[in-house]
Formats: sequence, structure tokens, C-alpha cells
Amino acid sequence: MPPCSRDTVSMTTNTYQGLEVLYTRQQIAERVAEMGAQITQDLNGEKLVMVGVLKGAAFFLADLSRAVQADATFDFVATSSYGNGQRSSGAVKLIKDLDEPIEGKNVLVVEDILDTGLTLSYLRKVLLQQHPKSLRIATLLDKPSRRLEKIEADYVGFSIPNLFVIGYGMDYAERYRNLPDICLMTPDHPE
Ligand code: IMP
Ligand code: MG
Repeated sequence: MPPCSRDTVSMTTNTYQGLEVLYTRQQIAERVAEMGAQITQDLNGEKLVMVGVLKGAAFFLADLSRAVQADATFDFVATSSYGNGQRSSGAVKLIKDLDEPIEGKNVLVVEDILDTGLTLSYLRKVLLQQHPKSLRIATLLDKPSRRLEKIEADYVGFSIPNLFVIGYGMDYAERYRNLPDICLMTPDHPE
């Protein structure tokens, strides 16, 4: 894997030096374009409500929505997630609910990472209570080896092993979300 290029990091500090790139912005863009084309095809001309899971999916939703050719609207939810680091807090709860009802609509949940599956299992259950016409899941990354709940995404960008990643919206203790590439976070990386 190539080292994180200098233009992916802050121009004023060396804080991110040593981070390795797992997927470059070009690789991400190509894959997101493919996913958008597939989603467009599956929609068959119907309308779509894209529900982004804050905050990690912000960039993915922004890019994926522009790769989907459909009459689409956005909504956002937020759940409790990883605490202050790489360890999961375990319990999932809704911190921010939908703004608009989704009954009878085609819903696409847009998530950054499907990891243990706790978040998306919970979200799917909560959203299905509103009786959408359809409910699909798009995740940029999937870590199938980490699954605790039985859940799969309908659209997966990249399937990865048990690595902790940052960038392109994904954080470590709220930092690094603005890295344009997806980089590896090693446990011994200095904070
Ligand atoms: P879950 O374990 O499937 O419930 O995933 C919950 C959330 O944990 C994901 O939506 C991510 O926001 C976060 N997460 C899981 N793995 C990583 C990672 O490698 N880097 C950053 N965030 C992660
Ligand atoms: Mg997330």
C-alpha cells in the first residue's frame, strides 16, 4: 500500500504522517460511481429517500447521491456509536430521528461501515416500523468478520478485513474525518 500522500494531510503539521492509504480518493470515486449506477438500475425510475447515518456517511452520501440518477431526497439519522476511540460502546440508540415520514417510500440507508451490525440492525428495525415501500442498505465498507448481528448490506463498496480505518468521513475519536482517502489507523498510532 502506498504511504498517505502529503496532499491528503494538513499542510501545516505532520500529525498524519505514517498513515497508510487503504483506498485512494480515485478508487473510492470509481467504486461509488459503480454503486450509483447499480442503485439507479434497481430503482427502475422510482423515487428514493436517501437516509445518511451521521456523521461518518456524510461524504459517502454526498458522492453516492450524485452518482444516483433518480428523483432523490435526503434525510439523516444519528445513532450512538463508538465511544472515544476504537472500542464499541455496545448499546445503540437513536440520537437524531428522521425529519420526514418514510411510509410507502423507497428508502436507502447510507452508512460508512457495516461492522458488528448492531447499528444497522437497530436502524433497520426502527425504520421498518414506519412501513417504507422498500428498505435497502448501502455501505461503503463492510467488515464481515466482525459481525455480531445477522445483517448484510444490499450494496457494498469494499469488503475489508478487521482493520480500523479513518478518513472519507470516518473518524478516530472524531478526528481524521476530512482525510480525502481511506487510511489505516494502527492501535499504536500516536494521538
Ligand atoms: P457497527 O459495529 O456495525 O454497529 O458499526 C457502528 C459504527 O462504528 C460504524 O457506522 C462506524 O461509524 C463505526 N466504525 C466501525 N468500524 C470503524 C472503523 O474502522 N473506523 C471508524 N469507524 C468505525
Ligand atoms: Mg457510522
